[in-house]
Amino acid sequence: MKEIKTIGVLTSGGDAPGMNACIRAVTRAAIYQGWKVMGIYRGYEGLIADDVKELTTESVSNTIQRGGTILKTARSAEFMTPEGKKKAYDTIVKHSIDALIVIGGNGSLSGAQDFAKMFDVPCIGLPGTIDNDLYGTDMTIGYDTALNTIVECVDKIRDTANSHDRIFLVECMGRDAGFLAQNSAIASGAEAAIIPEDRSNVDQLEKFIGRGIRKSKNSSIVIVSESPKDGKGAQYYADRVREEYPQYDVRVSILGHLQRGGTPTATDRILASRLGVAAIGALNEGQRNVMIGVSNDKIVYVPFSRAIKMDKPIDKELIDVLGILSI
Ligand code: F6P
Repeated sequence: MKEIKTIGVLTSGGDAPGMNACIRAVTRAAIYQGWKVMGIYRGYEGLIADDVKELTTESVSNTIQRGGTILKTARSAEFMTPEGKKKAYDTIVKHSIDALIVIGGNGSLSGAQDFAKMFDVPCIGLPGTIDNDLYGTDMTIGYDTALNTIVECVDKIRDTANSHDRIFLVECMGRDAGFLAQNSAIASGAEAAIIPEDRSNVDQLEKFIGRGIRKSKNSSIVIVSESPKDGKGAQYYADRVREEYPQYDVRVSILGHLQRGGTPTATDRILASRLGVAAIGALNEGQRNVMIGVSNDKIVYVPFSRAIKMDKPIDKELIDVLGILSI
């Protein structure tokens, strides 16, 4: 394998708190190694457009505590095309970039995998998404912060739900994964979570109402995962409650993008720092086309194909915990 002297780093897809801590770790670990680091702005869009600037140890000072991403991010349609990838490769050649580190979610790592198939550029993926939906890592960068943000919001909603004796359907992000919904429901003491992973034929709303929760409690909170695939978000369930159970006073709260912002938790900062340093270690060992994750508190290398394609299951134990504790 070609000796590495220069690496490129980019963030792609939805931003996630902790991405800056990760850029910082990648940059400093690479410089520690004697390598040059090129920061690529706006994800793959910037790689195509040659929006590239060298990063120094100073460029990443005072960033570990900041949400968002100093490299900016984008979802690039052009990069999906062979022409887009060729333009991106031209930028890699122009700056003598020997390896690419991509911090992002599922779509971003799929992009890296396809790129590495077309061109001989070692790519390392780092899981950066609030959704926690990448297989092979216990947690993704940004997930813990988003989870804490949701819990903080639900605690506030609980006050008004209690005061008015209402059912609140709180919609959280997660795309097709219910980690944020399930775990925020446990942590906030919600009465139920409606998640896309529940593939039983049981109607989740009927199940919740049927348990007679309103008989013993004067208010209820149900966390609904956004579920873009079937469009059955909080509004869908609220409409059904109004029609099928008109005796209940129901409100919807869609948390939206506030879940993606804010200062990263210590857990996310530490995870991002470990993963960033491990990415440089992996390149040093000659690894390529793997995502770095943390499993059982140990650094692991997960081939892109597994990280992206395998479904990351929600532990049934978590579903049972919520069911038992919400009686
Ligand atoms: O993947 C992160 C995420 O926040 C998802 O939870 C959500 O479905 C999506 O991104 C929203 O994307 P955008 O910011 O492009 O609307």
